[in-house]
Amino acid sequence: MHYKLAIIPGDGTGPEVVQEGLKVLKAVESAFDISFEFTHFDWGGSRYLKSGKILDDDELDSLKAFDAAYLGAIGHPDVKPGILEKGILLKSRFDLDQYINLRPVKLYPGVATPISNIQPEDIDYLIVRENTGGLYTGKGHFSKKGTPDEVAVQEMIYTRHQVERCVRYAFESVLKRHKDNAWRGLSDEEKKKGYVGQLTLCVKTNVLTFVYDLWQRVVDEVAEAYPTVKTNYVNVDATCIWMIEDPGRFDVIVTGNMFGDIISDLAAVTQGGLGIAPGGNINPKGVSMFEPIGGTAPQFTGQNSINPLAAIGAAGLMLDHLGAFDAAKSIDQAISKTVTKMTSMRAGEMGLTTSEVGDSVAGEVVI
Ligand code: IPM
Ligand code: MN
Repeated sequence: MHYKLAIIPGDGTGPEVVQEGLKVLKAVESAFDISFEFTHFDWGGSRYLKSGKILDDDELDSLKAFDAAYLGAIGHPDVKPGILEKGILLKSRFDLDQYINLRPVKLYPGVATPISNIQPEDIDYLIVRENTGGLYTGKGHFSKKGTPDEVAVQEMIYTRHQVERCVRYAFESVLKRHKDNAWRGLSDEEKKKGYVGQLTLCVKTNVLTFVYDLWQRVVDEVAEAYPTVKTNYVNVDATCIWMIEDPGRFDVIVTGNMFGDIISDLAAVTQGGLGIAPGGNINPKGVSMFEPIGGTAPQFTGQNSINPLAAIGAAGLMLDHLGAFDAAKSIDQAISKTVTKMTSMRAGEMGLTTSEVGDSVAGEVVI
């Protein structure tokens, strides 16, 4: 297979981690019958400061010619918060209709987690975050701005269409995860009933009674087409408790955009931190973009000390999305072997340099 990939290294430590991801993809090329064509794009804060250009529609449109995009990080300490986030990251998600933000949460054996008495197999779940709607829609207004009577409104908007396609994707994800093995959290009785996995709706139906009533109804309706998926409901605040106290309760979590943003950072911490947490912005029928969840880490830029595993994991997610399952699995196993050589997942404390981590994973990629 031949894949055309758009590479957007971005700002800060983005280029350093992307370089290691590309190193691993080149190792995949030699080990598997796969080839890649990389085309680089210089989008980001540095370009904006030099040229005033954020990202125009034609540039974004040009991504549609690629099989996928691979992003490092976007952000710049000299650019006001919001400009690059809205102008590049959120614009890509919206305009390319990347309506799923996929965030696998997995604790590799040997990685330190702040949770005590936990086994790696207890932290192995998937967060399916809706990625184009909700509070991120950007609708709202001020009235009487700057006065003591000021009112600010930010609307949480969901269409049934947006909710339904996200929920369907989440159900399909359960089936994909458990094609070969049923989820270990199921009881024998549940397995006997034919269940293979579980989908948890994580929202706030007890307070946000319009938007999340819609979500609950859609889950109930779509569930009828997935009789082998057990469904349950956990409020978002309780989800935060269980993610720490008993993460083995989760298999696939489906949630809205804002809550998904928050719980996926908490989840990342439980798996060792942002240094190891990958994510994908998915349009199942269009072009998807894969990235480490973490940001630009300006204080570590240029030191060869940032952890590239999140970016490397994102490359693995990308291959899985493209259907190169064996290659994706091989990257996952290579990451697993590499973490045993590292003392920490944190930048500057890894016991290996950024490029050594990349070398190690690339060296472990085998058919
Ligand atoms: C993320 C980030 C973005 C988000 C920001 C940078 C716009 O936090 O990818 O989780 O809020 O989605
Ligand atoms: Mn976030």
